[in-house]
Amino acid sequence: MTRYDAVEAASYRVAREISLAGLESWREVLEPYLLPGRTVLDLGAGTGLFVRAFREWFPDVPVVAVEPSADMRAASGLPMLAGSAYEIPLPDASVDVVWMSTVVHHVRDLPAAGAELRRVLRPGGVVVLRSLFRERHSGIGLFRFFPEAVRALSGFPTVSEVASGTGFAVSRLEAVAQVSASSLADKAATLRQEADTLLRSLSAEEFAAGRARLLEAAAVETGPVVDHLDLLVLEKIAVGAPRSLQG
Ligand SMILES: C[S@@+](CC[C@H](N)C(=O)[O-])C[C@H]1O[C@@H](n2cnc3c(N)ncnc32)[C@H](O)[C@@H]1O
Repeated sequence: MTRYDAVEAASYRVAREISLAGLESWREVLEPYLLPGRTVLDLGAGTGLFVRAFREWFPDVPVVAVEPSADMRAASGLPMLAGSAYEIPLPDASVDVVWMSTVVHHVRDLPAAGAELRRVLRPGGVVVLRSLFRERHSGIGLFRFFPEAVRALSGFPTVSEVASGTGFAVSRLEAVAQVSASSLADKAATLRQEADTLLRSLSAEEFAAGRARLLEAAAVETGPVVDHLDLLVLEKIAVGAPRSLQG
């Protein structure tokens, strides 16, 4: 499990937290799952970006946040439980939706996580992921300036590795747009190497060269920065379901 320390947690808030307006498309795709009265677990909640978003977008949906890093929990300023995908501090059959945003690439033991997810989910419950997957990375603009960051993709699972590893079936998969920054200049100003798994894989020289390319482009391109991450919805495999339904 990747550990986020206090410096990384502070950087994460600056570099990775996106405005709620920039996440509007995510509100739309999540609406059918975060229905009033359903209990949501934000697993790997980090600095609480989505705890705050869900509070604003879906005020009638109770959200429980679980996060392994004490420093991320502290940086969030929100009530969060200590725990991880391998050890969720919640009773059996107690949540309807498990939300995992940019977390699954940190989960090395997918079968152990899958068993724990099945334990806490109520019948009919789903796991909803927001993630970059190894075979689907064309929606990430960062690679244009930091092409060497593609190396880090080897540490990311594919969609089918996540589904088969956790033992769930794919119920929905699509790319969702987000406005990651108001401009490339804004992106450059908030960029922090230590806050991003992709950028952490770069040498100091590679990062400096990429940052220079980004600043050069920022001088002429002033529009918003739009990236795409995937929405992946996983559902429990029904006992006795034919193999073709098992993702
Ligand atoms: C990139 S951050 C995402 C934070 C938040 N979900 C968001 O979208 O802003 C990844 C988070 O996953 C957490 N994490 C790492 N390994 C984990 C695991 N095995 N189970 C649950 N969370 C984990 C990290 O501590 C970190 O807070």
